[in-house]
Amino acid sequence: MTSEVNSEQATWWNTAGEGWAQAQDIVGLVLKPFEDLLVEVARQRPRTRVLDVGCGTGAVTRAIADATGASCVGVDIAESMLAAARAHGKAEFVRADAQVHAFDTDFDLVVSRFGVMFFADPTAAFANLRKAASGELGFVTWRGRDENPFMTTASEVAARLAPDAPAPDPNGPGPHSLADPDHTRAVLGEAGWTGVEVTPVDRTCTMPADLLVPYLSNMGPVSRALREAPEEERGSLMDGVRKAFDGFVHDDEVRIPAACWLVTARVP
Ligand SMILES: C[S@@+](CC[C@H](N)C(=O)[O-])C[C@H]1O[C@@H](n2cnc3c(N)ncnc32)[C@H](O)[C@@H]1O
Repeated sequence: MTSEVNSEQATWWNTAGEGWAQAQDIVGLVLKPFEDLLVEVARQRPRTRVLDVGCGTGAVTRAIADATGASCVGVDIAESMLAAARAHGKAEFVRADAQVHAFDTDFDLVVSRFGVMFFADPTAAFANLRKAASGELGFVTWRGRDENPFMTTASEVAARLAPDAPAPDPNGPGPHSLADPDHTRAVLGEAGWTGVEVTPVDRTCTMPADLLVPYLSNMGPVSRALREAPEEERGSLMDGVRKAFDGFVHDDEVRIPAACWLVTARVP
């Protein structure tokens, strides 16, 4: 990799990536509505080279490669994510900090599913992606915490499990850092993108109820908090955790209302 400025995020995602890789089939299922959305964006025009930013284990990269026949590159800062992505083939996967990496080709489409909210300097990062692009940008990001009750529940449960852990900075890099459309428009404009459109997208993400515990144990703030607990206590803690999510379980299905933005833009 050329250089890296988001080293704290790299460390965090490299650890978190082990859980994501472990649960990649469940994540793939839960986030499939947003994979479909980005595939739809990709299919709007012929594509030759597509870049997937913060590609994680590469589900969207592969889906777009299949749907468009374009040559696809996934970039991610975490090696643990990329090891899982590479195991599937179908695309090239590069370990780099997308904020500063010197991409060596022009991409006619840059996409991301929840992978562009973790930059220390979002304007610099989107300007760097603008340099790598000759066409369009399309990404999905979360709206606010208040509109995403599953994420709020997860954060509250994690805070109860690990009360001494430092609270995440609400204004720093994180899942909701692009929740404000005016901020997103300003960042992308300063970064050299034009025709910015921010469209609300609401989907219900689902998984079979018996996958909820493996999902929570591997993903997000709950898994992070559980890692802090002594191993022998994790089973009983998980029983309490599972109960906190009862409201999302309908018979044998978990339903997660997901409130997001689809953000699109193009090079001038
Ligand atoms: C929420 S995950 C999304 C993963 C994937 N796009 C998906 O939908 O399954 C965010 C991803 O962004 C990556 N990431 C965070 N900061 C990054 C950076 N500066 N450069 C490249 N990737 C980054 C993380 O390693 C992680 O894989």
